[in-house]
Amino acid sequence: MARISVFGIGYVGVVSAACLAKDGHDVITVDVDPGKIASINKGLSPIVENGLDELIHDAVAAGKLIATDDVQFAIDNTDVSFICVGTPSAPDGSVGLKYVKSVCEGIGAALATKDAFHSVVIRSTIVPGSTEETCIPALEGSSGKVAGKGFGVGYYPEFLRESTAIEDYYAPGLIVFGSMDEPTAKILTDLNTGLNCKIHTVDLRTAEMVKYTSNTWRAVKVTFANEIGNIAKASGLDGQTVMEILCSDEKIAMSSHFMRPGFAFGGSCLPKDVRALRYLARSTGTEAHLLHAVIDANEAQIRRAEAMVKKSGAKNIGFVGISFKPGTDDLRESPLAELAARLIKDGVGVNIYDPYVYQAYASGNSAFGRGNDVIPDLENRMIPKLEDMIDGSDAILVGNFYSEAIDQLENAASTLPVLDLTRMKRDMVSQGQYEGICW
Ligand SMILES: NC(=O)c1ccc[n+]([C@@H]2O[C@H](COP(=O)([O-])OP(=O)(O)OC[C@H]3O[C@@H](n4cnc5c(N)ncnc54)[C@H](O)[C@@H]3O)[C@@H](O)[C@H]2O)c1
Repeated sequence: MARISVFGIGYVGVVSAACLAKDGHDVITVDVDPGKIASINKGLSPIVENGLDELIHDAVAAGKLIATDDVQFAIDNTDVSFICVGTPSAPDGSVGLKYVKSVCEGIGAALATKDAFHSVVIRSTIVPGSTEETCIPALEGSSGKVAGKGFGVGYYPEFLRESTAIEDYYAPGLIVFGSMDEPTAKILTDLNTGLNCKIHTVDLRTAEMVKYTSNTWRAVKVTFANEIGNIAKASGLDGQTVMEILCSDEKIAMSSHFMRPGFAFGGSCLPKDVRALRYLARSTGTEAHLLHAVIDANEAQIRRAEAMVKKSGAKNIGFVGISFKPGTDDLRESPLAELAARLIKDGVGVNIYDPYVYQAYASGNSAFGRGNDVIPDLENRMIPKLEDMIDGSDAILVGNFYSEAIDQLENAASTLPVLDLTRMKRDMVSQGQYEGICW
């Protein structure tokens, strides 16, 4: 069992403190609010949350949970501190770090006189880089010690939802943390090992970003569902029924499909369907901000790829893939075809390696080039052998993933620019002549 101090007796702090104490850990909560401290020490919950009163009552009665404003006492009597103070928006909308910074300075001052190793784990929601740029300098400055050596550091976001916070604590949908050192990683791993959820261990910044990504995604989902509801209502339909049926599709609609950063969506369905829904919205006098934004953002992703090509200075570019996704020769609304067309118009030479589109051509399939209405002379641009295309190009654009092409393309990056819109290998990042569109 661990000895844990929790700084900030707000929703996150008090729920995690109570659950940790219930699980048998010795927990000291710290706050600057005397009312919250008194409340905990009387065995009462300072917030309203299902089941929390009982947890706090039992934990305090069992001597597992106390509250104090004495930072030194809390640090001296625990081995790890969780920072759960608020991070409200600053006036310009940026993340407000003043409470996090102040609590780090206080913890650092207490660490200055503590010999035993202590880990400081931030749980507040803070933008990527905050742990490294704000928390660590504050901790190092007041402790005189070096982060990762003199004391441990971790970032471990919380995903609980108010009203079901205790339930979420014991059945999380996501566990992720980053740490600078082994002891901190071990504490966080041990604390989560009993839970039925994969533990993702990443760097500090990735953990910080996952938290924002999760909340923004939730926001997009809410907005999307609202927009569907608005459009459905205006068409005499029940949007909640529609969304419930959509959500029953855990195989496709709710899976990780489509949730992979890369190039624009295209094909015969998504663009036209989003457009049609937007049109329906307009025709029923319903606003559809998100649908506009989805279409605008998709178009911007094509421009982003176009800018990558321009920046490379290539006069002849080889496209790996031209259909809207690998495994098909369908070119309908392929964003790769649209990109190629724009480059051709600007005088860039475009050649194409696409085994599926080429197969339709070579087999005399009458549907060769099906859906292409933007690329001139498509058949003359098709190159059957990848090595020939690499030899004849001064940059390569990887639009679709073909497993048989990956090794050759990776080697090509040592001799010419390779612009990757699909990420041919999971661990490749922009470096040297290789550039990924969003990695
Ligand atoms: N509320 C949620 O559902 C939720 C869920 C996940 C993550 N978060 C994130 O967790 C963080 C905390 O959120 P919250 O809603 O629990 O905050 P809150 O505002 O309810 O509580 C913050 C607490 O920190 C205390 N505090 C401020 N300065 C302090 C200091 N120097 N030392 C000790 N205590 C101090 C305050 O007095 C307050 O009691 C935020 O970054 C938030 O974005 C919140």
